[in-house]
Amino acid sequence: MFATMGALGLAPSAEAATRVPFQPLQPSDFRLRGRAAAKVVILGAGVAGLAAAYELGKAGYDCTVLEAQDRVGGRNRTLRGGDRLTEMNGTTQSVRFSDDVYFNAGPARIAQWMTTMDYCRELGVPLEVFTNSNAQAYIYNESAGMKAPVRWRTAKADVHGYISELLAKATDAGALDQRLTATDKERLLSFLSGFGAIGGRADGFAYKGTDRRGFTVDPGAGDVAGTQLGPVPSLSEVFASGVGRSFSFEFGYSQAMLMFQPVGGMDAIPRALAKAIGHGTIRTGAMVTRITALQDGVEVEYTRDGRTTVVKADYCIASLPPHILARIPHNLGADVQAALRTPVPASSGKIGLEYGNRWWENEEQIYGGITNTDLDLATIWYPSHGYHGRRGLVVGYYNFGANADAYAGLSHADRLRRALDQGAKIHGDRYRRDVVASASIAWTRQRHIEGAWISWPSRGAAYKLLNEPQGRVHFSGDWLSYEIAWQHGAFESARKVVTDLHQRVLKG
Ligand code: ALA
Repeated sequence: MFATMGALGLAPSAEAATRVPFQPLQPSDFRLRGRAAAKVVILGAGVAGLAAAYELGKAGYDCTVLEAQDRVGGRNRTLRGGDRLTEMNGTTQSVRFSDDVYFNAGPARIAQWMTTMDYCRELGVPLEVFTNSNAQAYIYNESAGMKAPVRWRTAKADVHGYISELLAKATDAGALDQRLTATDKERLLSFLSGFGAIGGRADGFAYKGTDRRGFTVDPGAGDVAGTQLGPVPSLSEVFASGVGRSFSFEFGYSQAMLMFQPVGGMDAIPRALAKAIGHGTIRTGAMVTRITALQDGVEVEYTRDGRTTVVKADYCIASLPPHILARIPHNLGADVQAALRTPVPASSGKIGLEYGNRWWENEEQIYGGITNTDLDLATIWYPSHGYHGRRGLVVGYYNFGANADAYAGLSHADRLRRALDQGAKIHGDRYRRDVVASASIAWTRQRHIEGAWISWPSRGAAYKLLNEPQGRVHFSGDWLSYEIAWQHGAFESARKVVTDLHQRVLKG
């Protein structure tokens, strides 16, 4: 009877224990054609290194991935309760987030067009919408003298309203007659009327504020028409606040909604890659100490648990950050060394604040999205999952450059204090209460990484040189792409490099 139930799927069976491997409904649009059998040593188990090993493995290559850290993913790191986060000065944070809480300390959003989506599909990484812009989140420019944050919707209503008024007036007064036909003018005026919600000609096309700004009392039933948010600031006040400076962010090809995130944390991507590659292929805790190009291959020396080992392979894919590679002794020549030294590491940092209740939803009606500020915290992110749950994690700062350096220089306790003091300017005193756990990352202080990403002074000779194999060493990483600081760049670079390498091997 039990066996029959098992066959019907009503009870666990031996068959159920051997899980059917995941089959994508549609595989990725990339595949190396033709099989080969060379041995490849890959330096770094970040996204580029893992993707290279994954693609080469599918084509029959024998890969060994050397990773200095005790985990895969590189900058793709999701922090959870029980994790330990050590910085180069030796301080360690013990992460105490609740079971259902995670913090994407590195990448946190994926655009729909990105190759990252292709890998999520092929590897069966479930996705959900990541809310990158939200009319209900805030803009706050303290240095412009703003007294209080404004919702994105309010800022947009006012900026679009006044711009429309100005342009409509100028158009109607004939100031643009050199550029516009009479029909163009009517069409432009019609567009501006809707875009800015401005008055008609009789009203001088005036912007007076509309319900797009929001309400202090929301529309309800019966005679509750709602109370519109007021007073409407003057044109001069709106431009002085600088709120419009934030708008272009969401027009970017990489930042426009919809965006996506893996369910449960961004590290689902490297974990799926590592699983597909096979953990036996990846040596963690293996720090590369020398790269020697030979006539017929490459020798890579690494230390692991105090022991030095040399791997010999036919080819090497070096996917470490360039400034880390530049410190490893090699015989690739002075030009390669100078090229590796050319990109400049960039600073960025984040803090994850777990709160014991989701006040941003319950009290401020913010369900995901980002608040933009000119404070040193730069941005505050609200979670795009777990709505109405008991707890949740807010990113209390995600900043860059000098702001990131300023926080990096502090202890975690001081970063937390500073982030809460700054964030309270947006959310008031309640922001300081009920933080049940926190963790902060300063990417310049992460050993073996030492930067959030890099920037090229120009994509000149050094960029070109490292995009070509040097002997049998190929370089890979987002830093060799046109989408630096995105996993997309790492995936694209990996695809380029494995294609180059495979073509060489097939040519013999
Ligand atoms: N790709 C990084 C971001 O979206 C820089 O913030």
